[in-house]
Amino acid sequence: MSDSTSDTHPPRRARLCGRTDLAPGEARRFDVAGLRVALVRIGDDFYAIGDRCSHEDYSLADGEVWPGECEIECSKHGSTFDLRTGEPCSLPATRPVPVYGLVLDEADVSLVVP
Ligand code: FES
Repeated sequence: MSDSTSDTHPPRRARLCGRTDLAPGEARRFDVAGLRVALVRIGDDFYAIGDRCSHEDYSLADGEVWPGECEIECSKHGSTFDLRTGEPCSLPATRPVPVYGLVLDEADVSLVVP
C-alpha cells in the first residue's frame, strides 16, 4: 500500500552551522545525515557540494576557494569544481560531485537532505 501523504511532507533539513560561523571565502566539512558535505561561503552566499573529490577520495573542503570563479580547488591534484553545478572545471577530475540544496534563515544554514 502506498503512502499518499509522502509527497506532501516538507523536505527534511539538517542544520550545518550559523550563518556567521564561516568567514567569506572559507570552506568547512560537515558529516550530516550520512553525507559528507563541503560547505563554502562566498560573500553572503553559501554552497554545498559533496566533500569527496571525484578523482580520488579526497576532501574538497581542504582546498582553496576561488570566490571570483565560484569554484573550489582540490588540494591533492588541483582540479577545480564549480560550486553551483558540481562540474569539474579542470583535469584530472572528469566527473561532477553532488550539489546539495541549502536553506538559509536569519541565523542558520541548513542542508536539504536529499
Ligand atoms: S584527488 Fe582531487 S584532483 Fe586528484
